[in-house]
Amino acid sequence: MKFIVCENYDEMSKEAAKIVADLLKVKKDAILGLATGSTPIGLYKELISEYNAGNISFKDVKTFNLDEYYPINKDNDQSYYYFMNDNLFSHVDIDLNNTDIPNGEAADAEKECEDYEKRIAASAGVDIQILGIGQNGHIGFNEPDSELYMATHLTGLTENTIEANSRFFESIDLVPKSALTMGIGSIMKAKKIILLASGANKNEAIEALKNGMLTTNVPATMLKLHDDVVVICDKAAYGE
Ligand code: PGA
Repeated sequence: MKFIVCENYDEMSKEAAKIVADLLKVKKDAILGLATGSTPIGLYKELISEYNAGNISFKDVKTFNLDEYYPINKDNDQSYYYFMNDNLFSHVDIDLNNTDIPNGEAADAEKECEDYEKRIAASAGVDIQILGIGQNGHIGFNEPDSELYMATHLTGLTENTIEANSRFFESIDLVPKSALTMGIGSIMKAKKIILLASGANKNEAIEALKNGMLTTNVPATMLKLHDDVVVICDKAAYGE
């Protein structure tokens, strides 16, 4: 696990964008694993700038997203489907048929999880997986627990996550209590993983990556078993 410590959020976003853009320049049909939340928004803005400058194209790029609330309608402005269109897809030349997000509208959540895992497996494999990290160390919606799932699954959200995400909703009661999420095994299959963290509220989780043991109580520590993980964080998250 390699750490790149940046001065601030903007520098963190630029560092991450450079790695992704460099890949797209040499591999036009790269497969990206994408994340939502406030942290990757700067990265997506940088990628849109690179696209507008004519430096990269998403024409042949495929994407898989980490997770989606369940149940949620795609036109709900808090759905991750809406988020991806709003923050990236509608601004670049990506073919929406090449984008895949767990379907929060699926009638059968278990089947959707199985199908999603099959769709990832049938692809050529995620080249770069972007991750944020929860204050509690979650990745995707793999929440701290005594056991973690390997594959895409339906999960409940912890109180900590519901509270952290309530800032996006009109009231905490409107935050969905469940989600569909890639499992730790799905995430670990990516060839390269970039984990982004910004702000002092992520410091405890980042400390666990720097110094801690492997523990399912901080799901992100499982990434120590992957041989190409870059943690790009600002000084506040790193604890400087
Ligand atoms: P955030 O969420 O980027 O909004 O802080 C990260 C996460 O919960 O994984």
